[in-house]
Amino acid sequence: MSKEQNKNKDLMEKIVSLAKRRGFVFLSSEIYGGFSSSYDYGPLGVELKNNIKHAWWKTMVREQKNIVGLDSAILMSPKIWKASGHLTAGFADELVECKKCHKRFRKDEIEKFPLSLRLRRASKIQNQNVKSSPKSKIQNLKCPECGGELTKEKKFNLMMKTFVGPVEDEAAVTYLRAETCQGIYMNYKNVLNSMRMKIPFGIAQIGKAFRNEITPGNFTYRTREFEQMEMQFFINSKESPKWFDYWKKERMKWYLDLGIKKENLRFREHKKNELAHYAKRAVDIEYKFPWGWKEIEGIHDRGDWDLSNHSKHSGNDLSYFDENTKKKYTPHVIETSAGADRSTLVLLVDAYSEIKGGRTATTKSAKEIEVVLKFHPSLCPLKVAVLPLVKNKPELVKKAKQVYKLLQPHFMCQYDEVGSIGRRYRRQDEVGTLWCITIDFESLEKDDVTIRDRDSMKQERVKINELIEVINQKFNV
Ligand code: GAP
Repeated sequence: MSKEQNKNKDLMEKIVSLAKRRGFVFLSSEIYGGFSSSYDYGPLGVELKNNIKHAWWKTMVREQKNIVGLDSAILMSPKIWKASGHLTAGFADELVECKKCHKRFRKDEIEKFPLSLRLRRASKIQNQNVKSSPKSKIQNLKCPECGGELTKEKKFNLMMKTFVGPVEDEAAVTYLRAETCQGIYMNYKNVLNSMRMKIPFGIAQIGKAFRNEITPGNFTYRTREFEQMEMQFFINSKESPKWFDYWKKERMKWYLDLGIKKENLRFREHKKNELAHYAKRAVDIEYKFPWGWKEIEGIHDRGDWDLSNHSKHSGNDLSYFDENTKKKYTPHVIETSAGADRSTLVLLVDAYSEIKGGRTATTKSAKEIEVVLKFHPSLCPLKVAVLPLVKNKPELVKKAKQVYKLLQPHFMCQYDEVGSIGRRYRRQDEVGTLWCITIDFESLEKDDVTIRDRDSMKQERVKINELIEVINQKFNV
């Protein structure tokens, strides 16, 4: 592993450890040894993820004049998945299996693994374990785990099967939804009619999706249960290029507006042979994770794939009547499909900063490192921490608790009286709390507090009766 790769691995380990230690993300079913690739969001993680979902909803629904929201069911008729192409080869990974250790791998992942490394690794394993195997027998594709021979690739469908009702037979089979947008297509006519929408218009939805991923991994990056934030924009096909470019730019702007570093974001256009079965064109927004550039959102031109197929399979006319031209047509769809879990991970990685030599009074040596999660103000899980200067002075504690009660209905707050004030500042910086409010002895006389800013660490005195207004103003700067 190169120095750079080691550094990035270290960085990811630090982020995963902080996420657990400070209540952002926990391994699911941990007391039973964990459950493969499932994670739970802790008290701060759920706040962060909720803030991301609110930011998305605000931008994609509340601030749009022609986009409305939806919350459709996870369990739907299995006929939907047949019509959408998800039950056929279109929604499948190509898998190879090792004849020796029987582990399965995605063929494309194995192909990406550099040939030189594959050969070196396979050869090393063979030399150790099967000394008689001649080197010349090593083919290009070998098992990355044990160097064994691989089978030919087979398609493996990603839909998660389940049963509805008491009898577990073929008639009771259905699937956990693999993408939230199918619920949107199911309700396209309902929304069109009930809300009197006119093309172009969009339907947005946030919800869980499930895929039987073969190679989940990289913490919460690829999991079998995840949350999507999807918007389907229904248009006249003539306007596809215009709206595709529009949403591509808008979606990149959303990440930049959340303060994600520009140098860590890029577009990647899909080649023809990579396109999903429903897509005519696709562009990914990628983030530079410690393990490389990876997709966080897809913008897809789905053409009329979904509405036409659902029309055909259901026997219901899903066309649109244009009152201006008096013509009927099947709308095309431009889709923006983002992952709430991937966005949360992006924010943790992007906000993570280490300050060498420290910045607070508790930092002892130049070698010490202080961690600050520099979240965008709107996304911080905790906006305010209320801290009595010391905990053994009942009058300070009493006043601090009054201030905490005053702020609670307005901002996500935490009350903390444990440890020295310097340590408490560090603890709050480490989870990205924007403002630390300290109640000191002067507060008792003047009815005021100090507000310490996370990034500048500057402190100012503010009257308690002006506190809510001052904090609100700070958000608007
Ligand atoms: N409706 C289109 C669709 O689902 P996708 O590119 O398969 O497109 C869209 O998924 C987004 O959903 C991805 O960019 C990613 O953010 C998220 N996503 C997909 N699979 C995921 C997984 N296994 N774990 C976490 N997030 C995932």
